[in-house]
Amino acid sequence: AQLDLDSILEFTINLALEAGEMIRSGQQKRFSSESSNEDEKANSVDLVTEVDKAVEAFITKKIKETYPDHQFIGEETFNGQKITDEPTWIVDPIDGTTNFIHGFPMVATSIGLAVGGVPVIGVIYNPFLDQLYSAAKGKGAYLNRKTKLPITGKSKPLQSLGHALIAVEYGSARSAPQLPSKVKTFQTLAGSPDLGGKMCHSLRSMGSAALNIATVASGGLDMYWEVGCWAWDVCAGICILQEAGGAMFGPKTSSLSGEIDGDLLTGRKYLAVRGIAPSSDETSLQVQQR
Ligand code: IPD
Repeated sequence: AQLDLDSILEFTINLALEAGEMIRSGQQKRFSSESSNEDEKANSVDLVTEVDKAVEAFITKKIKETYPDHQFIGEETFNGQKITDEPTWIVDPIDGTTNFIHGFPMVATSIGLAVGGVPVIGVIYNPFLDQLYSAAKGKGAYLNRKTKLPITGKSKPLQSLGHALIAVEYGSARSAPQLPSKVKTFQTLAGSPDLGGKMCHSLRSMGSAALNIATVASGGLDMYWEVGCWAWDVCAGICILQEAGGAMFGPKTSSLSGEIDGDLLTGRKYLAVRGIAPSSDETSLQVQQR
């Protein structure tokens, strides 16, 4: 049956706002309690808190009550499920868990819905800055429901890497060979001879994949590059970015002018570009392939 994207978007926005309230109050409780421990997942910098788990349980329950036929994949309960063609909710209850633990306010709940492997709903909410990014496929992307993305005045396409403000992340995979290869890319972007004398304006790291993508969508960043993201880090963001006229490239994307990558949700390697992708700037593609 045809999905009613307008009503699903409304549901998702309300869900993200409620999740945001849990995140805000969860942080207050953690900061005022003696036992605000966090657990390590894959390694000592891959962290999860009791708030991540509680928020995911809340979001799962609401989705299952409202859309019992839909599939669900969440960061904290992921057990290897594949993304099928069925409507599938893909959720990161707290994206930016390390920021959440430290009180650095770049934290978001990220709720996406994919159908046939294509993100059709995306809502990213930062409860600390009260910023809500939302989009439904074919219906545009918005900040705080009213401001259409990209934000006015920032819709000029990116001309070249040399003019770009680019987000990158260390992520949590930091052993060899991952870390040296990431650092090499940071260095290339910041101005190594590999770029033929070009260097980007500067590099940034928000510590939240979802917020990096949302900021590319809104125009504050020109690009975001990361290796090691999961579907829940990017699903909502892809919908928002594409609706804002930007493009997300995965490892299988062969041309910057935009061949569709069928595995965009599972490729782990991402380059988000605001506005129209600079198809003539091959350096972007080289960066992406590293
Ligand atoms: C992480 C953050 C981080 C990014 C990692 C993500 P989490 O998500 O988005 O910025 O570098 O790749 O896994 O663990 O905070 O939900």
